[in-house]
Amino acid sequence: MTGSTSSTPGPDRRSQGPRLTRADLDALPNYVPGRSPADLARELGLPEAIKLASNEVPYGPLPGVVEAVAEAVAGAHRYPDMGVLALRDALAERYGVSADRIATGCGSVALAEHLVRATCLPGDEVVYSWRSFEAYPIIVATSGATSVRVPNDAGHGHDLAAMAAAVTDRTRLILVCNPNNPTGTSLHRAELDRFLDAVPDDVLVVLDEAYREFVTDAEVPDGLTAYGDRPNVVVLRTLSKAWGLAGLRIGFLVGHPEVAATVRKVVTPFSTSLAAQAGALAALTQADEVRRRCALVVAERDRVTEALRKRLPAGQVGGTVPESQANFVWLPLRDRSVSFAQSCEARGIIVRPFAGEGVRVTIGTPAENDAFLAAADSALHE
Ligand SMILES: Cc1ncc(COP(=O)(O)O)c(C=O)c1O
Repeated sequence: MTGSTSSTPGPDRRSQGPRLTRADLDALPNYVPGRSPADLARELGLPEAIKLASNEVPYGPLPGVVEAVAEAVAGAHRYPDMGVLALRDALAERYGVSADRIATGCGSVALAEHLVRATCLPGDEVVYSWRSFEAYPIIVATSGATSVRVPNDAGHGHDLAAMAAAVTDRTRLILVCNPNNPTGTSLHRAELDRFLDAVPDDVLVVLDEAYREFVTDAEVPDGLTAYGDRPNVVVLRTLSKAWGLAGLRIGFLVGHPEVAATVRKVVTPFSTSLAAQAGALAALTQADEVRRRCALVVAERDRVTEALRKRLPAGQVGGTVPESQANFVWLPLRDRSVSFAQSCEARGIIVRPFAGEGVRVTIGTPAENDAFLAAADSALHE
């Protein structure tokens, strides 16, 4: 029989109330939702506010998506296809891979989480560059794995040599964000080749290419074509950014068939929703329109970068704006990051500060970018 003393909480525990969740998760930051543009506009008495904080593309859903989703949701009382067969076939055809190498998920962020779940036991290590995508530390911690963060190099990008050196016997997975969120920096083919050659075969390398469609530098490899033959490389892509489906939550991975099959096993059942499957199938027919929109974003990215570099010369603390291959730019403002973002917000522009490090600004329409540059002028002179 269990002694009553062992199941009775001690006085300390009783006085603090029952502990219902894992203590180690207390260290994780709470999710702080971005400011709603409608609320901000109301507060400031403006007709509208501009949100440049979530790396969305500003041109609305692609043609045909709204109709396809509306038609699909007529069957919303039925579960979606759990195998996601039609969409996996369409993705396979578009990207020239077999469907057994594809898994879909509730955004590519969910797939990153599934990959950690599929590879790591408690205490196993996940290596990634930092600062990078803010979900990485949360995903790793919730899986009970251990984060090994390798500081970004002086140019705000991944230090691949240091990342390779950080691999230990306990490393199961490495996250490489190319281009990197939030700094926009990117890795070239030769350095990635060297890195992948140095990583042991039994460590999975996840190339997170959420922003691939905005890449214009020919030296930045397409992970699918460059590394498709490496069994320990998985490429993550999303339909949230260039494909305009952020609100439907749909991402996919391409990897070795065994890896993809394991992820399909651990995925939350039915998490690629009916609407997401229908919206993605419709979006995939619009590749020309995606290319046209990305070209607009890229032209604006280059214009905004040049304008900001004039305002933030290379000699200042933190350096100037690094070249971005994504749909956002990074202002390495260090201690001024939060006050800069507050100042933009007071002018109706929502940007994304990372306290003590920098500010990420999503590329919007030309008019939105002009409004941001005007706000930045004032903010930088305050
Ligand atoms: C680098 C990176 N990976 C993955 C994601 C996740 O995108 P989603 O879950 O919408 O597919 C994001 C979104 O911001 C990102 O920046």
